[in-house]
Amino acid sequence: MKRIVLILCILLFHAGIYSNNDFTDEMALLFSGNANRTLSEEVAKYLNASLGSAVVERFKDGEIKIHINNNVRNKDIFLIQSTCNNSSQSVNDSVMELYLLVRTMKRASAKSITAVIPYYGYARQDRKVSGRVPISAADIASMLESAGVDRVITIDLHCGQIQGFFRDIPVDNLYPSNIFISHFSKKNLENIVVVSPDAGGVGRAKKFQEQLKKQNIQSDLAMISKQRAQAGVVSSMNLIGDVEDADAILIDDICDSGGTLVKAAQVLKENGARRVFAVITHPVFSANALDLIENSVLEEIVITDTIPLRGKAPLNLSCISVGELLGEAISRVQNGESVSELFQ
Ligand code: R5P
Repeated sequence: MKRIVLILCILLFHAGIYSNNDFTDEMALLFSGNANRTLSEEVAKYLNASLGSAVVERFKDGEIKIHINNNVRNKDIFLIQSTCNNSSQSVNDSVMELYLLVRTMKRASAKSITAVIPYYGYARQDRKVSGRVPISAADIASMLESAGVDRVITIDLHCGQIQGFFRDIPVDNLYPSNIFISHFSKKNLENIVVVSPDAGGVGRAKKFQEQLKKQNIQSDLAMISKQRAQAGVVSSMNLIGDVEDADAILIDDICDSGGTLVKAAQVLKENGARRVFAVITHPVFSANALDLIENSVLEEIVITDTIPLRGKAPLNLSCISVGELLGEAISRVQNGESVSELFQ
């Protein structure tokens, strides 16, 4: 009997049903900055590993002070840090912690350094929209690359081109569609229309629709044409497509002030949508975004934990962890396996 079970396990493993997520600390070590430790612990749990011992503290004036307690010489290092803010540090603190952690590992003779950046901040500044402005998404990329990062694993970059801002290193841009789709497949949605809240997000919405189709869930596509009066202020929105009697699912990478999402949901309702759901990968949620969501027409907003939630979650918000997705990507990178199916 034992032999049959063993043979079955080997067969399932080779069929790709079980993946080899062994992560041995003889070869590789996981570390976390302070931006989102809870997620880092989820990743470590998936890998049956523990987080390396890194003391990341502050001097009295706010300067960052780091000490790594493990020997990292000749090891593959995976540094997990979203470049986001949380209740005790700013986006810039998180960026700087990541930079200094990379430099520390480099000087301590790590063999390779993979920056695992679940939320890549500064991504929205991805081109010169006028004269004399930075392309911050590219500038952060050059900073990390020149610091000594050998690979980046990230989730749902604001735009795919950011991968090219890293000149000579691979960037694995994962998308958590599987976890979103398995969430929605239990909901018996009818007459589904996948909606992008702006022109820039149509590609993401289309990909989501393709993933639904792979699960035999049919849907239509619509988009909203959005005008901004200034950064963070949406002035007008017009629907392109039909959502009459539909269960609409708005897809976006980021919800920041909540303006785009809440206004888009309202427009869909005004155009006859039966129910409006939303899928947001990165819950930046600044200012009173959570209140706006709570008091909106949104039936449900599904987010991930790439950024820790600040404040009380409204009843119409569900959060799904990307810990397993990241853990699986790390395991595959470490074992030299393909990660491309995790891009979907
Ligand atoms: C913009 O291109 C992004 O995809 C989001 O739509 C935007 O960042 C959301 O911002 P807010 O919540 O402030 O309207």
